[in-house]
Amino acid sequence: MLDEPIDLSGVCASFRRLQESPLLPAGDVGSAFPEAGELAGLFFADSDDVPVESSTLRSAAEQEFADTGYSRYSFLRDQPITYDGRETFDVQAIRKDFPILHQKVNGKDLIWFDNAATTQKPRQVIEAIARYYERDNSNIHRASHALAARATDGYEGAREKVRRFINAPSAEEIIFVRGTTEGINLVAQTFGRKLIQPGDEIIISTLDHHANIVPWQQLAKERSAKLLVIPVNDRGEVIPEAYESLLSPRTRIVSFAQVNNTFGTIVPAKTMIDMAKRYGARVLIDGAQSVAHTPVDVQDLDVDFFVFSGHKIYAPTGIGAVYGKKELLALLPPWQSGGNMIKDVTFEETIFNDPPHKFEAGTPNVADAVGLGAALDYVGRVGIQNIERYEHYLTEYARRALGQVDGVRLVGNPRERVSVVSFVLPNLPAPEVGKLLDQEGIALRAGHHCAQPALRRFGLEATVRPSFSFYNTTDEIDKMVEAVKKIANVAFSSHPNIRI
Ligand SMILES: Cc1ncc(COP(=O)(O)O)c(C=O)c1O
Repeated sequence: MLDEPIDLSGVCASFRRLQESPLLPAGDVGSAFPEAGELAGLFFADSDDVPVESSTLRSAAEQEFADTGYSRYSFLRDQPITYDGRETFDVQAIRKDFPILHQKVNGKDLIWFDNAATTQKPRQVIEAIARYYERDNSNIHRASHALAARATDGYEGAREKVRRFINAPSAEEIIFVRGTTEGINLVAQTFGRKLIQPGDEIIISTLDHHANIVPWQQLAKERSAKLLVIPVNDRGEVIPEAYESLLSPRTRIVSFAQVNNTFGTIVPAKTMIDMAKRYGARVLIDGAQSVAHTPVDVQDLDVDFFVFSGHKIYAPTGIGAVYGKKELLALLPPWQSGGNMIKDVTFEETIFNDPPHKFEAGTPNVADAVGLGAALDYVGRVGIQNIERYEHYLTEYARRALGQVDGVRLVGNPRERVSVVSFVLPNLPAPEVGKLLDQEGIALRAGHHCAQPALRRFGLEATVRPSFSFYNTTDEIDKMVEAVKKIANVAFSSHPNIRI
C-alpha cells in the first residue's frame, strides 16, 4: 500500500480572475446575429439573465475552485492514499456480478483496464436484455397488444431512468441514440444546420475526442463558420484565459468533453458554461467519459445538451442518450425522417411528432435501452459518489506506482482527474507495450485513443492507457506495474535503438 501524500497543490486562480472581466453588452451579441428577430430568443431564452451579474459568476467559480484548493475532487489532496472498501462497497462482491472478469487470457487472470474504451456488463444487465427477448420483444408505440405495451413500457421506462440519472427536468428532453458520436452528430446536424451562419464561431477543446472534433469541423466547413480550439497547458488542463479570449458575440456553441479520455482531466464544466452564457452561446457537454465516474446534474450545470454512450456505463453497445433543453428541442428540425417521428403524413406534407420522438425515426433499439435502464439501476445501487471516490483512489494509486517505475513517463498531470492514466516507455512503441501486457492477461488501450490533437500537443502519437472501473482492484494495478517494470527492463537492455 502506498502512503505518501499526493501533491495536488495549486489553485486555478485564473478562472476566478476571469470572473472579474467586464461583461459584454447584450446589444453587441444581437447585432452580430443575422436572424436576430427569430433566433435571438433562442440564444437569449434566459434573457432575464443577460447581462449576468458578475457576482453570480464569481460565486460559481468560487464554488468550483474553493480557496483551499481544488473543488469537490480535492478529497485526496494532502492525504495518504488509503481506502477502506468497507466504507462504501465490497469490490469482491461487485466483481461477482461481472461474469466476463472471471476468465483466463493467455493463461493469466484477465485484468480489464480498457474501461475508457468500453465497460463490462453486470449479470443484471445481461439478464434484463435476455428477459426482454424471452418475454417482451415487440415493436413499440404502434401496436395494441400486450407485448407491444410491455416493450413500450420498458423503452419509455428506460428514458425515465436516464432522466433521473442525469437529473433532467423531463423525460421529453431525453433522446435515445446509438451513442455519444451519434448524439454529437445529431446536435451538429440539427442545431448547427439551423442556427450556425457564415462567420459564426464554434469552440471545442484540444482535449476532445475525435467524436467532438470531426462533426463540428465538417459543419464549420459546410456553413463557412470558424472552428476555434481551446489550448491546454503542460498538465493537460484547459487554459481558462485562452478560453475566455476565444469567446465572442459570434460564438454560437461551445462543445467539450467533461472528462478527457487520454489524461483523465476533469474539465471545469460549470464555470465554462457560465462563461459561455455571458456571450449568449449554447453549450454541449460530451459526457462519454464523465457519466460513469462522477455525478452528473444537467440542471445544476445548466447545460443545453449533454450526450453519453451506454456502453461506457455498463450498458450494451448501440445505445446512448442526448439530453437537450426543451425550448431548444422544440425549435430544432428533425435529424432523420421516416416512421415513428411523425404525427401525420400526406404526399404533400408531414407533421412531425413532438420531441423526443421527432428525433427518433424508425424502430429504436428497444432491448438495449432496457439494458441501459438496468445498468443505471445497478450504478445507482452502488452509488455514483462511492464509485467516484473509489475510482479516484485507484487512479492516484496507479499514477504513483507507475510513476516510480524506471523509464516510465506519465503523460499529462491534470490536477483534477479520474479513472485514466497515460504513459509511455521512452524506447518502446506504445502498441508493443500493449501487446506485451496482453500476454500477461492485461487488457488496456495502447494507441492514439481517438484523440490525436490532444496527444500531439504533447509531441506523441500514442500512449499506453490503463483506465479503471469500480470492479478493479489495487492487486490488479500491482500486477500491471510489475509487468510494466519487466517490460521496461527488457526494453532498456535489448532494444536500445527503438524510438517511439
Ligand atoms: C470523450 C469521448 N467522447 C466521445 C467518445 C465516442 O463514444 P462512442 O464511440 O461510444 O460514440 C468517446 C469514446 O471513447 C470518448 O472517450
